[in-house]
Amino acid sequence: MSDNTAVDPYRSLDGRNVILGVTGSIAAYKSADLASKLVQQGATVDVVMTPSAKEFIGTATFAGLTHRPVTTGLFEANSDIAIDHVALALRADAVVIAPATANSIAKLAFGLSDDPLGAAVLATSAPVIVCPAMDAHMYDNAATQANIETLRRRGVYIVEPAEGRLASGLIGKGRMEEPARIVEHVRWVLGRQGDLAGWKVVVSAGGTQEPLDPVRHIANRSSGKMGYAVAAAARDRGALVTLVAGPTALPDPVGVVVVHVVTALDMRDAIAGAAKNADLLVMAAAVADFRPTEAAKEKIKKGSRETVTLELIRNPAIISEVSGPKLIKVAFAAETGEAARKAREKAHYLGAAFIVANDVLEPGSGFGTDTNRVTFVYPDGTDEALPLMDKLAVAHELLTRARKNLT
Ligand SMILES: Cc1cc2nc3c(=O)[nH]c(=O)nc-3n(C[C@H](O)[C@H](O)[C@H](O)COP(=O)(O)O)c2cc1C
Repeated sequence: MSDNTAVDPYRSLDGRNVILGVTGSIAAYKSADLASKLVQQGATVDVVMTPSAKEFIGTATFAGLTHRPVTTGLFEANSDIAIDHVALALRADAVVIAPATANSIAKLAFGLSDDPLGAAVLATSAPVIVCPAMDAHMYDNAATQANIETLRRRGVYIVEPAEGRLASGLIGKGRMEEPARIVEHVRWVLGRQGDLAGWKVVVSAGGTQEPLDPVRHIANRSSGKMGYAVAAAARDRGALVTLVAGPTALPDPVGVVVVHVVTALDMRDAIAGAAKNADLLVMAAAVADFRPTEAAKEKIKKGSRETVTLELIRNPAIISEVSGPKLIKVAFAAETGEAARKAREKAHYLGAAFIVANDVLEPGSGFGTDTNRVTFVYPDGTDEALPLMDKLAVAHELLTRARKNLT
């Protein structure tokens, strides 16, 4: 068993009250997963179902997942809303309707309140997030589009459905967004007034690939997870985030502008452009220190050679080159042993407010893991060692310290 099993995952919706509205779509089965994911992120989830939704999924599933009573009718006993149908709405930090049928979207556009969900939406001042799910023709229909537009104009946040295979067998736009992505939208919406609201943050992530020939490259083992966590954490606190990412297997985070790059030189150019007007640059990418002096135009053949010698040339030190009138810089240093001491030696020439040192050989730390144990190294020679933590928690600790420099 590795050390990282002892670390509690960071919960990005701790203390938040979320109403999860479920309507009569075949995608209602996915709302069970969504309810579970919201609860796992720390939210208190009150499920409100339309009468049609009960044809698709049972209340026991939601009650079991949320540990709370499920509201299914305006006049039902044991329903909070029956006693005071605005109680949940007033307490809510967000109302998420997933799946949202064409019918319920139309009712919301008209402000109808003949079911508990419509009543809750009218009574709340919390952000309302609507995740449509329907047949592609129903979604494209002018009436549905006009209703969605009406909701948008009123400030309702629409999570666009995805293109894909629909329950009808058709391929088209109308598939409800995946629950994990909906949770990210919720985090983004709830973070809009966070302590980084208005700040422009640029984050680099992942490793770079330096081509040797058209089919080979020199790379490193960075998974991109640390930089992606910093980008997501900054977004969750209201920042406008640009993520400059080397090749990774990770999906683009919701609510973040992602610039995909391959080489160190591409990364340098993308960061230089994005950082010009930025407030904060966090260099979490593992940028190759060297690249082949020349990439062969054709695949290098092995022929009869037993050895090959590669000539490498130094890549630019991006963090030292990039500047902006108000730019605060934070650098990561991935080391193998004595990470803090080695980072301290770099501190004076990187021009960073602090360096985040991590030992990539430690169990649970560094490349590919979901956790990291870092030491913040400051230019005055002091440092601050953190315990092994979830990467998202490390990202928040980093941003809290960077925030002190931003004001
Ligand atoms: C098997 C089946 C699947 C359905 N799936 C959807 C759907 O994905 N989206 C939708 O807008 N309507 C769908 N409907 C139609 C709605 O259930 C119907 O419009 C209902 O009145 C919606 O009520 P509600 O919006 O109050 O939940 C489906 C109906 C059936 C019988």
